[in-house]
Amino acid sequence: MCGIVAAVADRNIVPVLLEGLRKLEYRGYDSAGLALIDDSGLRRLRAVGRVAELTAQVDETHAAGNTGIAHTRWATHGVPCERNAHPHISGGLAVVHNGIIENHESLRSRLKDLAYVFTSDTDTEVVAHLIAHELKTESDLLAAVRRAVAQLQGAYAIAVVREADPSRLVVAREGAPLLLGLSGNGLYAASDASALVQVTRRMVYLENGDCAELTRDGYRIARVDGTPVERPESESQLSADAIELGNYRHYMQKEIFEQPVALANTLEMLGAARSIQPGIFGAESEELLRGVRQVLIIACGTSYHAGLVARYWLESIAGVACSVEVASEYRYRDSVADPRTLVVTISQSGETADTLAALHYAKSLGMHRTLCICNVPESSLVRENSLRFITRAGPEIGVASTKAFTTQLAALYLLTLVLAKVRDRLDAEQEAGELLAMRHLPMAVSMILELEPQIREWAECFSMKQHALFLGRGRHYPIAMEGALKLKEISYIHAEAYPAGELKHGPLALVDREMPVIAVAPNDVLLEKLKSNLQEVRARGGELWVFADADSEMKESDGIHVLHLPEHYGALSALLHVVPLQLLAYHVALVRGTDVDKPRNLAKSVTVE
Ligand code: G6P
Repeated sequence: MCGIVAAVADRNIVPVLLEGLRKLEYRGYDSAGLALIDDSGLRRLRAVGRVAELTAQVDETHAAGNTGIAHTRWATHGVPCERNAHPHISGGLAVVHNGIIENHESLRSRLKDLAYVFTSDTDTEVVAHLIAHELKTESDLLAAVRRAVAQLQGAYAIAVVREADPSRLVVAREGAPLLLGLSGNGLYAASDASALVQVTRRMVYLENGDCAELTRDGYRIARVDGTPVERPESESQLSADAIELGNYRHYMQKEIFEQPVALANTLEMLGAARSIQPGIFGAESEELLRGVRQVLIIACGTSYHAGLVARYWLESIAGVACSVEVASEYRYRDSVADPRTLVVTISQSGETADTLAALHYAKSLGMHRTLCICNVPESSLVRENSLRFITRAGPEIGVASTKAFTTQLAALYLLTLVLAKVRDRLDAEQEAGELLAMRHLPMAVSMILELEPQIREWAECFSMKQHALFLGRGRHYPIAMEGALKLKEISYIHAEAYPAGELKHGPLALVDREMPVIAVAPNDVLLEKLKSNLQEVRARGGELWVFADADSEMKESDGIHVLHLPEHYGALSALLHVVPLQLLAYHVALVRGTDVDKPRNLAKSVTVE
């Protein structure tokens, strides 16, 4: 979703802005733009499409300057077109914005009455005019921005430059991510650290309600009401290599193949231990987890699917009641709150607006035992939970989440074991056995990745299909859901997942020779029942593509294709069965020639509602 990069330095900052935008491309966008202050004043360039189009314009016009703001736009208000692309301008100042201004209509009509002329359909343009209006009675840019944002409702991260103030940059955040980058020869701001590691590792994360002024010599932060505040400086651990594509064709492919390392890193703290310490979730976790009566998991997208798998583990292994909610639904639902609930939020980015809002809502209902599982240590979500577990998947760039999902599952399995332990449901022998199984995960994933050539062959058969049905049972039903999500996200084939037992209650009507049916069929207690469901498909002429375990007695026959995973994985099999489905989606998308890492209409980090 929209990305911001801004800079004020003692050198030409245009290459930094463009490189920063390229690093933010993964968030999803449909147009890009920048504004600079150069010797002739304020200059703006905007382009629909890729950052490469904007770069071409920069090359053509030889644009250069020491102060500037840049933006990738993911359209919310107004179609993707140059007129709606950021920056937006008013009275010699330019603004870029990530978020949604909810009261933009009333502000727009007030500003129109004041004779401001609108040239776009965006909510952002009201911010530009509002600041320009405040500058009529307030000469200080930071103070004018504070007064303007005080009138906004909704979410925003903004960056502002002004022709009359060529060495100054002002930024503000509320509900959308923004950080400052500090270096000896300039100051920077961006939506995430990946845009700035090219110039500095020294970061300052702004809090909601912070506004900041940056000059070449330093910065100051103030709350919206003007109270000065200080925020700690931290050293970003992000490695520049981790966000390079290397020898891979796509980030998604790279990230699928990074899963063994991502899992090994995430589980590193286990070492060779035979027992697990509750402290892995935070210093006070043992006491906090001991009193838990139920678990409420809240997340979106792929992270939500991780929560659905965890429900099966938590109830069967830890014996704790668990419900799983889509964040955008939960935040607006009247629900019954129990203060002894452990609220678990799951998020790759830690910036998903609905997940953050749902957490705030849960807390407002009196539930203060909160734990997040997140891949970005500096994110908003991590700062807002009492307990946390950081998955160490490394930066995930592909919009379709892969390594974040499997590392989330590993974290959720650890949570299950810890809860089982504090509830006296795990003896020492079982505990050691479970930890051994977890340590085997990286190797198990590596062996599954070797199935890629066979999966590539299967993918050829899907490429002309319009629809696909995914089936699973028990904890593999959410894995079927995740497989369907992967396929639809990147190949644009309509895919649906059903618990196999529900087949005859509707979806069977869709089954014919044209409908491929993909079954997740591990060798567990539900296998015989699943086989009967698959017979129902076969009897209607449906073609089956079955992912089975090594020891399941599933045979290939006419219309039934079977791929055996290398082993039988027990309770952890859900984590492993998703890997071939990721590969399947990736190869189908390759055959169909879609934009694998940046599928149409989707964003990686959904920072607006
Ligand atoms: C977007 C991404 C998905 C992701 C979801 C939740 O839709 O495209 O890949 O699963 O957001 O994101 P989060 O960062 O909260 O896990």
